[in-house]
Amino acid sequence: MTQQETIDSMQWSEDYTLNNSVMDDTHHEFVELLDTVLQSGDSQLLAAWEALVDHTQDHFDREDQWMLATGFTADNCHASQHKIILQIMREGTNRGRAGELHVPRQMARELTVWFPQHAQAMDAALAAHLQEVGFDCATGTLAHPQALPLESIEGCGGSTCSTH
Ligand SMILES: [Fe+2]
Ligand SMILES: [Fe+2]
Repeated sequence: MTQQETIDSMQWSEDYTLNNSVMDDTHHEFVELLDTVLQSGDSQLLAAWEALVDHTQDHFDREDQWMLATGFTADNCHASQHKIILQIMREGTNRGRAGELHVPRQMARELTVWFPQHAQAMDAALAAHLQEVGFDCATGTLAHPQALPLESIEGCGGSTCSTH
């Protein structure tokens, strides 16, 4: 990556809005925390990175719970992607703690590419599904249980998903 291509900030774009206020608020926070990592000097980098990892664990756990509550299998492709991303991010923490700050720094740059794709495919499909079945993310209540699919959902339903 040349210097000109280096991404050193991440800003919210209205393209990321999914019209699910709980998801949108969480995603706003994710973008802000990621931006903080990107703008951190070496002395702040690890603390900023760990704050992002903690927030991401909570972010993904909640989406995974909503999926389980509304008919998805535990290992559907969206939940599986969350698991992989978190494993990579934890590896970034370990490498950063070992003094290899360039590793979480590079991962943060890659997350600026990953997040829009994830939000606009997997999270967008989940938001549409939650709306269809009347799931309230704030309270965990389901307004239209009859709208739940009869069989468990293995694919995320995203536009690029190959699992149906
Ligand atoms: Fe998300
Ligand atoms: Fe997600």
